[in-house]
Amino acid sequence: MSDPAESVFVRACRGQRTPWTPVWFMRQAGRSLPEYRALREGVGMLESCLRADLVTEITLQPVRRYGVDAAILFSDIVLPLKAAGVDLDIKPGVGPVVAQPIRRAADVARLPDLEPDDVQPVADAVRSLVTELRGTPLIGFAGAPFTLASYLVESGPSREHARTKALMYGDEPTWHALAERLAQIALAFLRVQVQAGASAVQLFDSWAGALSAADYARYVLPHSRTVLEGIRHFADVPRIHFGVNTGELLGLMADAGADVVGVDWRLPLDEAVRRLPDSVAVQGNLDPAVVFAPWPAVLERTRDVLRRGTTARGHVFNLGHGVLPDSDPDVLARIVELVHEESATQVQDAG
Ligand code: CP3
Repeated sequence: MSDPAESVFVRACRGQRTPWTPVWFMRQAGRSLPEYRALREGVGMLESCLRADLVTEITLQPVRRYGVDAAILFSDIVLPLKAAGVDLDIKPGVGPVVAQPIRRAADVARLPDLEPDDVQPVADAVRSLVTELRGTPLIGFAGAPFTLASYLVESGPSREHARTKALMYGDEPTWHALAERLAQIALAFLRVQVQAGASAVQLFDSWAGALSAADYARYVLPHSRTVLEGIRHFADVPRIHFGVNTGELLGLMADAGADVVGVDWRLPLDEAVRRLPDSVAVQGNLDPAVVFAPWPAVLERTRDVLRRGTTARGHVFNLGHGVLPDSDPDVLARIVELVHEESATQVQDAG
């Protein structure tokens, strides 16, 4: 069994030379796979996240099918909140829905802490995955304070995040108290995963792009830094920091303490590289919708992402956001093959 800490994926995250560009897909496990839908039949989303056997199998499915360079734990950003005791559910086709929204200081005070025991099945699944993956690295993840707060404050998915921003702008102490609690929960969740053997972590701040750079710096960055720096003190694993629509925030997201910054499809990777410090690697950024286009378009755009990625210290190929539910798994498998072949040739040309 090879050492996942020396895998192509982890080396690329660290900006070290690799024989090819590693690739994985956000949301690679899930509804686009028929074998996933079969396993999940009659089992609720959050229930499945607390069954170690299901988590293990669902995490392995895309690794077998696509030959990706990393696995990502099957779980959800709201799972630690649920496990700690927050009354919430994931409604199919909607997303996380919270029974009682958190909008005042008294609501924040009622938020429970996450104890490692609350997510014991997650630790069990990570341990069995490390064995089953035989050297393929496992990515652990958590939701960042802003994105988690948005679900709690809005009480469900939101496009505008208006109530979340209203809390931020109108009651700064309560906002910071909430974000600090969520940072501690995210950090505790990541620690459990890393302790059990995860080789890297990704902090999902999916909705941070809703904020201006000034507001991100003032209200969000300090709390995301608590999570990312907390992990740095805990273990030597690469930290990926990702959000959507974050072109104006990339430098700040690196500043929060990332080794790799995830970029969505709106910004070419070479432009993202110009906005980031030399010390960080990039992850991304094929438009998830490209998967639905005829193969020549997929080919052209995949090559373009790879070419722009060569300007970075390290590049992890990914989509700019998660796999769309109706994606054809065969196209994703072909993209993995293409990324491997093309990038191996690039390395030969450069050498
Ligand atoms: O990437 C992977 O393969 C790992 C699994 C994973 C899930 N959620 C499984 C899931 C990951 C990394 C997440 C993170 C997550 N969850 C994020 C951040 C990433 C992003 O998309 O920006 C967010 C915002 C959530 C919250 C959430 N959970 C949403 C918006 C939804 C979709 C609701 C719907 O049905 O449209 C979920 C549910 C969810 N999480 C599903 C999966 C596979 C679908 C539910 C199902 O299969 O029944």
